[in-house]
Parts: sequence; structure tokens; C-alpha cells
Amino acid sequence: MCGIIGFTGLKQASPIILEGLSRMEYRGYDSAGMAVISPQNRMQLAKVSGKVAGLYEKTDNGAAFPGVCGIGHTRWATHGAPTEANAHPHVSMHGQFAVAHNGIIENFVPLKEELLAKGYTFQSQTDTEVVAQMLEDCYEGDFQKAVETVLSRIEGSYGFAILCADDPGTIFAVKKNSPIILGLGEGFNLFASDVTALVEHTREVVYMEDGQYAKVTPDSVELFAEDGSPLPLKVSHVSLSVAAAEKGGYEHFMMKEMMEQPEAVGRALSPRIKGGEIVLDDFRLTKEDFNKFTKIVITACGSAYYAGLAGKYAIEKFCRIPVDVQLASELRYADPFIDEHCLLIVLSQSGETLDTIAALKECKARGATVLAIVNVVESAITKLADSVLYTWAGPEVAVATTKGYTTQLAVLYLFAVYAARVLGRLDAEQYASVIRELQALPEAVRNALKTDCDMSNLAQYFKDAQHVFYLGRNTDSALAMEGALKFKEISYIHAEAYASGELKHGTIALIEEGTPVVAVCTNPALLEKSLSNIIEVKARGAVVTAVVPEGLPGSEAIEGYADHCIKVPALRDVFASIAAVVPLQLLAYHTAKLRGCSIDKPKNLAKSVTVE
Ligand code: AGP
Repeated sequence: MCGIIGFTGLKQASPIILEGLSRMEYRGYDSAGMAVISPQNRMQLAKVSGKVAGLYEKTDNGAAFPGVCGIGHTRWATHGAPTEANAHPHVSMHGQFAVAHNGIIENFVPLKEELLAKGYTFQSQTDTEVVAQMLEDCYEGDFQKAVETVLSRIEGSYGFAILCADDPGTIFAVKKNSPIILGLGEGFNLFASDVTALVEHTREVVYMEDGQYAKVTPDSVELFAEDGSPLPLKVSHVSLSVAAAEKGGYEHFMMKEMMEQPEAVGRALSPRIKGGEIVLDDFRLTKEDFNKFTKIVITACGSAYYAGLAGKYAIEKFCRIPVDVQLASELRYADPFIDEHCLLIVLSQSGETLDTIAALKECKARGATVLAIVNVVESAITKLADSVLYTWAGPEVAVATTKGYTTQLAVLYLFAVYAARVLGRLDAEQYASVIRELQALPEAVRNALKTDCDMSNLAQYFKDAQHVFYLGRNTDSALAMEGALKFKEISYIHAEAYASGELKHGTIALIEEGTPVVAVCTNPALLEKSLSNIIEVKARGAVVTAVVPEGLPGSEAIEGYADHCIKVPALRDVFASIAAVVPLQLLAYHTAKLRGCSIDKPKNLAKSVTVE
């Protein structure tokens, strides 16, 4: 995600743009820039790598950029490193057009080749610069016509803010799959990626819809449909405070990020499923490559490690290749059996976790081939890996990861199915069938979010607990570990995950009257075994909350025994965690909230652990 803003009116634009970018910095913060048309109709451009503070400094708090019409952008890098050259806005070769963009232009390569052949030169690696050059290339004096021509040729997702030096005072806003909200003022108008940047100027807004574009001037806002037909403005009144708006109206970033999971999982999956095939970006392995590997090792820390444990089941089930999952902080000192016959998969949301970096370096030095699955673009781990698959979760602000975890699972599932197809473990029909299952995962996550109310009610039974046990078998044991971690890291209640079958070998001694137990039972083949574990702990007084797949034979028996039963979408066992984790995230959140804990910034923790 990125933050975009455009302002045109009677006041100086720069201070308004800078303030708006600061408000949206949580949407992306690896580089920033702004373009303002000067009183002499010249395009003034300033860009920085790093945070918006650098832009304040570079433009002397905006004073160095006079003008009443401009656009700004704070970036979450997708194409190209977070450098100054790649920062937005991008300006066309002769400075006529400036474009700020949120999204991905999927067909920018052929369009760029066309422009290169015409002699256009490029300053960046971005897809966005292509749009600025296209505007200049097709411009014949009519700004709107140039915009319409370019929109008819590009494919992908985009929120645009577009300036033309020949048409000072006018900005075009375009919306397709990336949010753009218009703000209506007196003597000015503006727009931004979210209301955070608007509410201090106006509370009368228009939420643009996909395919629409708007011509914004100080005195008017004209809205058009994709076919160019004019549309009426549907004006809404925003009552949110600025602080609340930053969180999308949610009380905490964690809740906002949990609710973003369907879209985030969709972003991790859908661009990589094309024409019925899984295409893992530029990561390619042939059957010969895979046959060179005698084992796959997954290494990570915390929730990423638990994602690796869950992903192990998927890779082993589909590929029949042994997968060893190791804590990075242990692997780095274990004198590991790693050599050139090892594929090392490194998982990290931040891409900056020191233990994970150290383990990666240790394994690379021993000859391993390294595939990194990371959220933050151009982070340290991405520089050290041989290949990178981004999770496209978007910025994750809450320390307790949620969409970071589920998008890691999504990419691991993709990898497992891709590898199985390359290795010939899936025939064409099986492959197509499993791909359909993958494509249904975002909706499964969306349905799992409907347990929010149940989990909020259930939190009452957990908020005063001293100890909570999370039980699971097989894939559910990995999920139980993530559930326990979420719970303890934000509610500060001790929680322990245990393989259900292992409890009777000692730890069941701790179960007493009233002990809350969360039994994760999503594996259809193990429902009967899970039931016996529930009966065991109930016999000792436990209060059991079971997480079961909706409508599966055998789950009603569990429903009969458990004190509380949470139903999640029934998925293939090795995919089940991506949806079943959601009620566990929500239980942790609501319990912590009842306890008045600092949910987004839990005590003692940091979002990225860059120390040993
Ligand atoms: C999970 O909620 C925690 N924030 C923590 O365990 C985290 O997953 C771990 O520190 C790894 O971080 P990374 O994914 O950025 O490498």
C-alpha cells in the first residue's frame, strides 16, 4: 500500500501535502515525494528515500515549493528498491506530467518497450514512470483526453494522482483497486488514499469506485465512469477523528490488519495464479533443480517459525520431500547438516530479524540455495537470498503479526503446489483442483472473520485465567503454537501449546477445575482422536473451546462434548491453518482488550527484533 494525496486551491499546497503524507505514513514509509506546479507553471519535484520527515527537510517545510496545486506520495515499494529515484511522483521526460501511484501496472513491460523504442529515457525501475511517459507521448493539448487514452491501455491496480504543467490548478484522480477518496472544500478540493489526510480540511467526502476518474480543480470536482460518462457525486460525511481514521476506523492496528487478511491473502495468491498455472514471480526450479536437493530446511523466528511448521505439512504432503523446520536462533549455532543439496526457505515479515539473518548467512556459507518469503520489500533478508517471494501483506504496524502470518502460509502453500507439479506429484487434473482450493482461501479467511463476535463473547471466560492450553494434532499442533503465542504476547496470560497426544505424558497433571483449553481440531482425519483428548481434559475439569471445521462428519461429536465450539470453513487439512488461525487471533485480541493491555505495542516487544 502507499499513500497518495492531491490538493488544488487558493492556499499553498506544499504544507497541506506534507501534513497529509505524514498522516498516511503508516500505509508505507520507505520513500516519499511531492510535485507542485510553481506560479510560473513549472513542475517542482522533491523526492527522498526514507520517511516523510526527509521531505519536510528537503523542501524547507514546503516553503521552497510555492504553488497552489500539487500531489504527494509515501511509498510501500513494490517495483524497485526504496531509493530516491524510485520514489513517486514520477515525471515525464520533458517535465509535463507528474504521476503518483498506488498499485501495480501488470503490463508495464511491453508499454515501456514501446516508449524506449520511441526514444524515451527512464530514471527509475518503476512501473509508474511508464504512465508518466505515456501521458506525455499521447498528449495533444487536452489533459483529460491524454488521461483517458492511457487508462484505456494499462492493466492492473491503480490509484493515481496526475498533474499537467500545461494545466495548472487541475489534478486528475483515478481509482481502480486502490482507494481514492475525494474531499470537497470551499475554494479548494483535495483527495487522498484515505480519510486520514482529509478530515482536518473537510468532512464532506466522495468514495471513488473502481474504474472511475475525477477532474479536480479549486472550484469543481467532476466524476466520470470508465466510459467517460459523467457521474453524480455521492457525498458522505466523515465523523472519524484523525487518530481513528489512521486505523481505518478500527480501535487498533491489529484489528485493522486482521480484517485486511482476506485481501492480503488474495494479493499473495492471485497475481501468482495465471491461466491455471502457478507462476512464482521470477523463482523458477526445474525437476532437475529439485532433484539436486536432498532436503528442504525452513528457518524463521516466532510466528514465522510457526508458519514454517504449518507449511512443512503442505510441502511434505504434496512433494514427498522431507522438510526440516528449525528456529533460526538455534540453527545458526547447531553446526547444521546444510550443504549445496539443501534448499533453505527463510520466512520473515520484516526481513530484518537478526537471528534469521544470521541463520541465513550460516546456511548460505555452507552452500544452501536460499528462497526468502518476506513482506517488506528490499529488506535485509531479500538482499541475501538467491530468490525472493514477497507476501504483499502491506505494512503491518501491530507488533503481533496476523496478516504477516497468513500471507506467509499462502505463499508456502503456493510453493508446495508449484513444487509438486514440477516434480510430477500432481497430474493436470489434481493440479487444477488444488489451484481452485487455493483460489478459495481468501473467502475462507473472510468467513473465519465472522467469528469475531463469538470470540469477543468468549474472551470473558479467558480474561482472568492464569494458564491456558492450546492443543492440536499434526497441522493443528503448529496452529496451536501460533494461537498460544498470539494469546500470551498481547494478553500477558501464560499460554502453552501442546501436541494433543502428548498431554497425557505428563503435562495433563496441570489441568485442573476450570483450566481453559483451546482444542484445535481442523484435521478431518483426526477428529476422533481429538475428541478423545477433549474427553481426557474435561475429565479433569478443563473448560474446552474447540475449533472445528464447519459441517464435517465427526465435528458434531466434538460439539457435543466441548463447552464452546467455534466453527471455521472446512478446508484441506494442510490448508486449514490459514482460516482456523483467525478465531485464535480474535480471541487473543478481545482477551487483551478486556484486560486493558496495550494491544498494538505489547510490553517488552518490538515489531522487528534486530538484536540477538
Ligand atoms: C509474532 O506476533 C511476533 N511479532 C514475533 O514472534 C515475530 O513473528 C518474530 O519476531 C519474527 O519476525 P519476522 O517475521 O519479522 O522475522
